Amino acid sequence: MDQMKKIETIGILTSGGDAPGMNGVIRSVTRTAIHHNIRVIGIRRGYHGLLRGDVIEMDARSVSDKSRVGGTFLMTARSETFTTAEGLQQACKMTKVFGLDALVTIGGDGTMRGAVDLAKMDVPVIHIPATIDNDVGCTDYTIGFDSALNTAISCVDKLRDTASSHERCSVIEVMGREAGYLALHVGIATGAEIILIPEQPFDRDKDIIGKILSARNRGKQHYIVVVAEGAAGGQEIAEYIETNTGTEARATVLGYLQRGGSPTYQDRYLASMFGIQAVKALMEDRINRVVIYKQGEVTDIDLFEGIEITKKISAESMKKANMLSI
Ligand code: F6P
Repeated sequence: MDQMKKIETIGILTSGGDAPGMNGVIRSVTRTAIHHNIRVIGIRRGYHGLLRGDVIEMDARSVSDKSRVGGTFLMTARSETFTTAEGLQQACKMTKVFGLDALVTIGGDGTMRGAVDLAKMDVPVIHIPATIDNDVGCTDYTIGFDSALNTAISCVDKLRDTASSHERCSVIEVMGREAGYLALHVGIATGAEIILIPEQPFDRDKDIIGKILSARNRGKQHYIVVVAEGAAGGQEIAEYIETNTGTEARATVLGYLQRGGSPTYQDRYLASMFGIQAVKALMEDRINRVVIYKQGEVTDIDLFEGIEITKKISAESMKKANMLSI
């Protein structure tokens, strides 16, 4: 049978935490699919919406002027029900109700696990990694990471201004869940004196207090500490620093600020490429795939293999960060 005819209708959803660039992915998938005469059904509110049959028909104009806007206009949710056997059955049923030949899922590792569950139930899926955490093992890059980094960097730069005026220590807690990618990259890009990430165990006295005191003795008068939420709480680290060094310390939790805002060039461009790749995979009869960015190339690999791949921040990256923070 002609491949073009095989996939006639696809569903698309965003799930889990939103990330800048998700709208660009939706736009790219929708327009590429429509270009190839594939009908696109937008599923609102992620897997939660799929269970409830919360869908809209998409056309080329549904995605106009969306890629420069943060968030996801299809909206997102975290669904407990979807992870149950009944929920999964219901989700499969809905793909039949709406005649979906395949589902394109956009989100982080939780969304990817959901995609794997659906694939095991014979729902053909293509997953596109999008999360500010950049913690999906099979890909070097997840949509949203660069935008979140730039947002965080501009906040840390501002915090450095005031830390410098007051000769304080500014402790900035960034998101990332169990991963330290955001913290490490923000820390390097802003010249943080200390970076704390979950992947690298640290001793509070040696790695925090000791570093601040020796930096002070070398003439530094203010300090930036970037801490990943998965490593420690910003407030408790600030209190520990103030108590043990006598330097005033203030904590700032960047929180959801990092998830909002207009996507950067990198997220708009890669969102476009990821979306095209997802539809290309379907057109070329590859189902149950995950779109990835590896060694500068956008490609796709088997979803079941992809979910097993892990990645880790190298000790070498931390060494480089430490070398620059003297
Ligand atoms: O996964 C993205 C993320 O922003 C994490 O960095 C953070 O830990 C989590 O989502 C917050 O999730 P929620 O939106 O459910 O509070």
